[in-house]
Amino acid sequence: MQPFIAAMQKVRQAFLAAIIKSFLRTKHVLQTILNIWISPSIIKGENVEAEPSTQEVRKLGAPEFVEVVNKAFHGLVGRKRLVALSDGLRKQFLESMFDNPQCMLPSYNHQLPSGDEQGTFLALDVGGSTFRVGLIELSGRKSGDEECKILKRSTFKIDKTVKQLKGVLFFDWMAERIGEVLAGQAEGHDMSDAPLSMGLAWSFPIEQTSLRSGLLQGMGKGFLAAHGLLGQDLGDLIQDSCSKRGLNVQVDAIVNDSSATLLSKAYLDSTTRFALILGTGVNAAVHLPVHTFSPSKFGIRPPEWHDSAKHVIVNTELSMFGSGILPSTQWDELLLSVHPDPTFQPLEHFVGGGYLGEIVRLVLVEGIRTAGLFGGVVPPNLREKYSLDTETLSRIESDRSPDLSTAQAVFMSRHPTTIPPTPTDLHTLRLIAAHVTHRAAGIIAAGVHALWQLRNEAESILPQESSHTLVAYNGSVLENYPGFKVACQKHLDTLVEASGGTKGSIELMYAEESSLLGAAIAGAVASLDG
Ligand code: GLC
Repeated sequence: MQPFIAAMQKVRQAFLAAIIKSFLRTKHVLQTILNIWISPSIIKGENVEAEPSTQEVRKLGAPEFVEVVNKAFHGLVGRKRLVALSDGLRKQFLESMFDNPQCMLPSYNHQLPSGDEQGTFLALDVGGSTFRVGLIELSGRKSGDEECKILKRSTFKIDKTVKQLKGVLFFDWMAERIGEVLAGQAEGHDMSDAPLSMGLAWSFPIEQTSLRSGLLQGMGKGFLAAHGLLGQDLGDLIQDSCSKRGLNVQVDAIVNDSSATLLSKAYLDSTTRFALILGTGVNAAVHLPVHTFSPSKFGIRPPEWHDSAKHVIVNTELSMFGSGILPSTQWDELLLSVHPDPTFQPLEHFVGGGYLGEIVRLVLVEGIRTAGLFGGVVPPNLREKYSLDTETLSRIESDRSPDLSTAQAVFMSRHPTTIPPTPTDLHTLRLIAAHVTHRAAGIIAAGVHALWQLRNEAESILPQESSHTLVAYNGSVLENYPGFKVACQKHLDTLVEASGGTKGSIELMYAEESSLLGAAIAGAVASLDG
């Protein structure tokens, strides 16, 4: 009985303390009780950050807090800082082309698509939060017809439960989804005896061992599929799971999603040499001369590959660069202090859609606690880590109305709280989000510019002589976050001019459905390869 009584006393004390603390802030009894009632986790302390004690809380006014935020982000992506960041990144790329097994990974794709590739392919796209399966028909650039047609497309959400499927279970889940798509397809499409050729866009690192195979590496983005399978062949894993279900399919190509994006644009425009992805994660692919890499980076490849490969599509794994040179603030440090793998993808922590919301949340929560933003009450579910989605911010930043009514409705629907945010609160939230995303756009531009410089040097091209460079892009942040792509392009122009080139020399160009189409094109290129 003793422990029970002690526990009850503790609960009672916590309840009283929570009431007093909230009462001091809101000065309204009913509201106080409601706040605590809505959020029992305040009392239970479950999966939420510890509430700092009142002594720790430094009181500021809202305007002073805004000043603190402005100061912390000021100049982080000014011209000089960006030029230095681009130089630093280029240096890191060069080092990794020498001996890093995790990034600057040469694929097996040494030829860009000719544009003549044809056929019907099943394209798979494993992204950070969705698995998509598409049936794609390629007719070729000169066919006079639509070059690529999506005959069928299904999207499956990869939620927390799926992300936590360990090892083969994840690949079995994929096969089950593929089976569903093919079952629905059987009546309308001629499923002859020949296995349907599959191409896979994989948005994780992979060590390619041929056009159709690659070794599984650590995955990031909260996925556990690589658990116990590191170093195993990804193609075999998918093929085995599909065969177990009796699916008449064959894995013919595996590419990283950044390479898929490059292939998808190059199929339509033969001058494409760069691709950029910014969604949940970040990455870039670039077509580089083979001789710029140390031979060890290619592992063991057949001599014929080396005989014909002059250039190669490289999966840079851009997310993994930037250690020690990224423009950090106290909130980035806070994010990393509780990150399970803080050194795996340093650049992604600053720019990825999986992190932008969290950085903003950390700044906001500090503003609520120290400067009384949002009535001094942290909306209950915002105390949970990663509870503020980048997509929510994107919708809040899209609201251009003077009273920010849409932004308020969006905020309240996702983060209900007893004190609705005022327009001033929402303006402050938007200001924080703008700082965080503007910095991200600058970092992305520095990464692309560094790759552009690297390629120019590798090809002995002077910046002022560099021809117009297309960067095929895709990913929810670049596509949907208001003003992101434009800001990124502006930073790129600044950087190009700073290095002696002409404004507009690097142009970001949208690549629609790039992962699915790129996977199909990779399948077509591989089947021509034999
Ligand atoms: C991640 C992965 C990378 C992928 C990128 C974009 O950072 O490591 O392989 O291309 O996200 O999806």
